[in-house]
Amino acid sequence: MSKFINNTKNYYENSFKRFGNNFKGMNWPSKKGQYTRFEELIKIGNLKNKTIHDVGCGNGEFLKFLKKKKVNFKFFFGSDISKIIIDQSLKNFKYSKNCKFECLDILESKRVKKFDYVFASGIFNIKNNFKEKSWKKHTFSIIKKLFQISKKGCSFNLITPYTTFREKKIYYQSVDELIKFLRKNVSKKIIINHSYNLWEYTVYIYR
Ligand SMILES: C[S@@+](CC[C@H](N)C(=O)[O-])C[C@H]1O[C@@H](n2cnc3c(N)ncnc32)[C@H](O)[C@@H]1O
Repeated sequence: MSKFINNTKNYYENSFKRFGNNFKGMNWPSKKGQYTRFEELIKIGNLKNKTIHDVGCGNGEFLKFLKKKKVNFKFFFGSDISKIIIDQSLKNFKYSKNCKFECLDILESKRVKKFDYVFASGIFNIKNNFKEKSWKKHTFSIIKKLFQISKKGCSFNLITPYTTFREKKIYYQSVDELIKFLRKNVSKKIIINHSYNLWEYTVYIYR
């Protein structure tokens, strides 16, 4: 496990142990914001009969959201770097069909299957004490992987640098730098959605 993953895992496990099986335990300030992110992520395309991988699924709230919205997906796979958080997902969805959860680091695992659409909500936001430059490198390598393990495309969110505040442990991703990286290393088919009322934006990358 890399130092980045280890640090991130400890951070989210602390939050989960402190606040539990809810949006706060997943380090979100509100459920409304968490659901707004999901609404924006699924704008990537029609999920009907599609296979889905939610990277950094936490306690599985995205699956709950998809079920509530009656999105008719074919199969849902949730992965997370934290075993204790994945165990909570397994508990939350033990009677659900067409879904699977697994503790997994997509950068290290050699057996990551491909899914039609790959999602990630909130996995890049906390850099803690890592230097901006090294967290960016880590972030970009995960983004590249999200795309590699998707058949149709991937979508994820990042904190915008266009904020009225700055916090040391938060990672703000420049849109310009991101597009440069994606066009050169990932895909030229990109949509940046900076249209909603949170300090962040959602990225859609297509094959
Ligand atoms: C902010 S929480 C969000 C959880 C869920 N996506 C949601 O929106 O409710 C971030 C989750 O991603 C996991 N995570 C962070 N970095 C990850 C990575 N590189 N790969 C997989 N999971 C990761 C954390 O363990 C944590 O459960």
